[in-house]
Amino acid sequence: MADRGSTGVAVIGAGLAGRAHAAAYRTASTLFGLDRPEVRLVAVADTDRARAADVARRYGYARAEPGWADVAAAPDVDAVSVATANHQHREMVAGLLAAGKHVLCEKPLAASYADAQAMTAAAEASGLVAAVGYVYRRSPAISAVRELVADGEVGEIIQFTGRYWEDYALDPATPLSWRYQGGTGSGALADLGSHLVDVAEQLCGPLTGVGGAMVRTVLTSRPVPAGRTTGHGPAGHTGRSGPVQNEDAAVFTGQFASGAVGSFSVSRVAHGQPDGLGFEVFGTAGSAAFDLHRMGEFTISTAGPRPAVNGPRRVLAGPQHPYIRDGLPMAAAGAGYGTGDMFGYQARAFLDQVCGITGLPPCADFRTGRHGLGVLAAVAQSARSGGAQVRVSAR
Ligand SMILES: NC(=O)c1ccc[n+]([C@@H]2O[C@H](COP(=O)([O-])OP(=O)(O)OC[C@H]3O[C@@H](n4cnc5c(N)ncnc54)[C@H](O)[C@@H]3O)[C@@H](O)[C@H]2O)c1
Repeated sequence: MADRGSTGVAVIGAGLAGRAHAAAYRTASTLFGLDRPEVRLVAVADTDRARAADVARRYGYARAEPGWADVAAAPDVDAVSVATANHQHREMVAGLLAAGKHVLCEKPLAASYADAQAMTAAAEASGLVAAVGYVYRRSPAISAVRELVADGEVGEIIQFTGRYWEDYALDPATPLSWRYQGGTGSGALADLGSHLVDVAEQLCGPLTGVGGAMVRTVLTSRPVPAGRTTGHGPAGHTGRSGPVQNEDAAVFTGQFASGAVGSFSVSRVAHGQPDGLGFEVFGTAGSAAFDLHRMGEFTISTAGPRPAVNGPRRVLAGPQHPYIRDGLPMAAAGAGYGTGDMFGYQARAFLDQVCGITGLPPCADFRTGRHGLGVLAAVAQSARSGGAQVRVSAR
């Protein structure tokens, strides 16, 4: 596969994330040098045929397909993004791997740890690239903090505190989409906690236990949509309501293998926080912080400067940090980048893995995605048992 001097790509799911993947493959061939194999934009698949056709046309893909099986059967497709509801990942990924396709699956890897386990086994037996879309690994500022922490710039990590707050579910008219189905752990924890846990582990290493979990569902019923939903957007209503089965908000604490401790807060009903990922990390010799609302910068505090002028310093992500050089049209600190750029860097890294090109950090593998599901399952168990400490199994 992918040995004909070009890589044929397809995207399954033409919703919120699917469009980000569709755009990312368009830019992937323009990133990090112009010597990579060509990327052929082959297909966008969605059971909503009109949506698939519209996205394929707008993003320049050769054709639209009605479902994942058509992509699996297509000989001109080498690599596929799976960007559908979490509970659909297992079947699609298994089918794609069986058909010899490399897969980039959106986070969380699956709707359950058991599904993630089966997917990991299938991926490892296949020998194909099987990656999870933890897109914040491609944030230049978060990656810069990760490198500084790994270099010991802030000393030994003592404490991490992180939040991922959004407000998409605050409107009671937001329809009862797949996001509101499933038990504790499948709501804000799966949607936002999956990212936050991965960011925390990128900085502090693996979590070995969680505790003190509490969850809250604020809006216990929502309008049943008359038609298909996409992203967090409105849909025609049937006039009926149905029960919300999972959490709108959650808090928990975490113990890292390194000895560091963490506190985590996630919400999909956080007023005024449309996309509020942020963290502080405190070490024995310094601290660092990041806020997605100012995604082109981070702050760091170290003992270096003399006390009279010391304090947290704002650092603009620039060509000296990951991804900016050769990842932006203008490689300058402060030039700015957005979420779309991160999806582009992720697509480039995935395609490099498919083509056997090294250099960029590889995408997270399915073992890592499975571990993430294990952390979320432990948080849910803690919440169900009054905040009990729950161990997290190793990768
Ligand atoms: N990394 C990120 O920042 C990010 C952001 C949003 C969503 N996501 C993840 O992406 C995935 C999709 O989320 P979304 O918000 O894009 O969902 P969505 O509801 O907007 O889109 C899902 C699409 O899948 C289509 N679909 C349903 N069944 C299908 C089938 N059998 N074959 C093909 N298409 C089918 C639907 O018609 C819909 O267009 C989820 O796993 C979510 O967690 C990640």
